Amino acid sequence: MKQVEEKYVKLIEPSLKDARMRKQQNVNINYFFLDPKYLNLGLGKYYLLKTYGCQGNLADSEKIAGILEKMGFEKATTELQADLVLFNTCAIRENAEERVYGELGRFQKFKKKKPNMILGLCGCMPQEEKTIVKLKKQFPQINIIFGTHNIASLPEYIYDVLNCQKKVVDVKSIEGDIYENIPSVRDHPKKAWVNIMYGCDEFCTYCIVPYTRGKERSRRPNDIIEEVEKLAQDGYVEVTLLGQNVNAYGKDFTDLNYTFANLLTDLSKTSIKRIRFTTSHPRDLDDATIMAMANGQNIMPHLHLPVQSGSNEVLKRMNRKYTKEEYLTKIQKLKQAIPDISLTTDIIVAFPGETEEQFQETIELVKEVSYAGAFTFIYSPREGTPAAKYPNSLSEAEKHQRLERLNEVVNEQALKNHQKYENQIVEVLVDGPSKNNANILTGYTKHNMLVNFENKTDNLCQIGDLVQVKIIKAYSWHLFGELIKS
Ligand code: SAH
Ligand code: SF4
Ligand code: F3S
Repeated sequence: MKQVEEKYVKLIEPSLKDARMRKQQNVNINYFFLDPKYLNLGLGKYYLLKTYGCQGNLADSEKIAGILEKMGFEKATTELQADLVLFNTCAIRENAEERVYGELGRFQKFKKKKPNMILGLCGCMPQEEKTIVKLKKQFPQINIIFGTHNIASLPEYIYDVLNCQKKVVDVKSIEGDIYENIPSVRDHPKKAWVNIMYGCDEFCTYCIVPYTRGKERSRRPNDIIEEVEKLAQDGYVEVTLLGQNVNAYGKDFTDLNYTFANLLTDLSKTSIKRIRFTTSHPRDLDDATIMAMANGQNIMPHLHLPVQSGSNEVLKRMNRKYTKEEYLTKIQKLKQAIPDISLTTDIIVAFPGETEEQFQETIELVKEVSYAGAFTFIYSPREGTPAAKYPNSLSEAEKHQRLERLNEVVNEQALKNHQKYENQIVEVLVDGPSKNNANILTGYTKHNMLVNFENKTDNLCQIGDLVQVKIIKAYSWHLFGELIKS
């Protein structure tokens, strides 16, 4: 114990068991403010943020950057320039974690050249006990480890590390609160993430998120509506509303009867031009939400509706709480209400016990829905989740084969959906020049399709412009076209 106290200013470790608990206590709303004693701590120093995982993490990293810049830190342009390197991590699958460990190894070597470099790790990985064990053993150079509930305490951690040269481990395995007012340095000048809720109470048997992010808790409607209106006033063109299960929005309010459909309807009256949201859970997606999507002119005609599997037995073992038939009924309603809707999904193959026939049912469902795109994954056991204990008899080769067979069908369907737009004129929100070719611009259509396009006109085309593009050729994962002179 004495040794521990000598090494750490704070040592609060995660517990997946505690994280599983869902108590009914009220959610506190905290308002962030930066204690003046931390104000100039970062002056003359540079930070580097490496972000892995979902949009939730991208949004968190923008807040972390916001806090750091308030403290005087500037964004580093090279890795070696950095005085503070923070890894905002993801625990969703084994390979997500492996990538982080690879990079951590590389940065431990950097630290030999630059001993004062502060290394930190946050996000979902530290919420797992096994991560802390491994970090302590193999990555002793890391100074700060904190979880998803502790972003607002980052200034304190940096202060402590700088002042006492000790380490901080602060990971809370709790239901969680809400923080308003955290400053944000947004990555995109015209597109913004807007958290509408945090956490997840679904407990799909394969998934670590309910353990790493705490219980479902919704931001107050007015805080969200004001944020979106302010973004529009500041020149933002598109917002993406974020939550692990946005359709559960508002279910935790004890004093308000206000749902996700209400929120969409109210947001559609703001002056923001494009509204997207992710992620929807098929069980909680209701008719009112479909109607709000159909009626809101600025709500984009795209829905990401993860199905995970086309087999009722597998869905049951996954604890998804819907059947294939119920899912397909919702898809039908969506197609009826929004005839041109584009649908995308997530699918897991080789879930424990998935038979060849059950896998075939997934293939059939992909054909029936005809998705415009899908993220497909091989099941990855997550320690502490129920499915990690289910027997899985497939070999690695068989798992990969299933993934490849599925991807073939996904790509076929995606191509078919993209081809509908050949020779059509679509509205594109310009993201800027493409990474590989500065003469090609990129952006997304209302249906969330990626478009690469040429500008042979004399019109200037800037980030955030909504422009008209004629589609020349369709591919599975993008469209190619040219700008129409306006
Ligand atoms: N809350 C969202 C996103 C969760 S993570 C939702 O419910 O859809 C994104 C995707 O990762 C999931 O949809 C699922 O397809 C996949 N995923 C989650 N846990 C996984 C695991 N243990 N192995 C493989 N894929 C997983
Ligand atoms: Fe994970 Fe299921 Fe929650 Fe999505 S809904 S985050 S898959 S537990
Ligand atoms: Fe990954 Fe955590 Fe998001 S596990 S997918 S970063 S909620």
